[in-house]
Amino acid sequence: MRKQIAAANWKMNLNADEAHQLLSKILHTKLALKPGQEIIFAVPFPYISIAVKKCAEHNNVFVAAQNCSDKTSGAYTGETSAIMLQSVGVQYVIIGHSERREYFNETNEVLAKKIDQCLSHGLKPLFCCGEPLSIREEGKEKEYVAEQLKQSLYHLTADQLQQIVIAYEPIWAIGTGKTATTQQAQDMHAFIRQQIELKYGHHIAQTISILYGGSVKAANAKDLFSQPDVDGGLVGGASLNAEEFITIIQSLD
Ligand code: PGA
Repeated sequence: MRKQIAAANWKMNLNADEAHQLLSKILHTKLALKPGQEIIFAVPFPYISIAVKKCAEHNNVFVAAQNCSDKTSGAYTGETSAIMLQSVGVQYVIIGHSERREYFNETNEVLAKKIDQCLSHGLKPLFCCGEPLSIREEGKEKEYVAEQLKQSLYHLTADQLQQIVIAYEPIWAIGTGKTATTQQAQDMHAFIRQQIELKYGHHIAQTISILYGGSVKAANAKDLFSQPDVDGGLVGGASLNAEEFITIIQSLD
């Protein structure tokens, strides 16, 4: 059975008090997760230890970092290594978010190295892919995403690939309020699964969770998550509001 995941990506938002309150409010709600359902909070680095402590009291609730270094250790001022993250109890790391690709020039090749760092140190990468608007308008979104998968993931063994969660996030839908239609999401998710199947076989493709991201909110989560190849969501803006995110979590079934 594939895991169903509601992942919050707080990005660079909230001060410490706000972060504490938001997490407490969500975790104090009776969430009644079913077996195979997970919640992930991708919080800013300064809040990771607090979040790990709070989430550890709950089954199937995990903390993610929003990035990690492609290097193991050493003189890289300002960087955070996978080893450090693992040592403070982080379980997942978002790798290749489009904001990192765009503003910090992260290429598919660098992302492949970051994935290797995560996997070498017991962390699960939440790998983001997705096309910009110009590529969708040209009708080339499938080739574009296939290339992202190929360049960042296909060096992995089947066992390694099974540690990965994929998030399809069309860039034109991130933070814009313009969600992909359920059909657009399902089409691309089915395509991604088919690509994984071509490379790694049917069984592996069926076990990989593929999340949708891009303006997921309480009002559209159920429709998106009910698509056969959509296994949950990576949620930015709406994850900063406790009620919204709780409804999104409850939309997983
Ligand atoms: P959004 O962000 O939900 O605010 O569109 C999603 C993301 O960037 O992961």
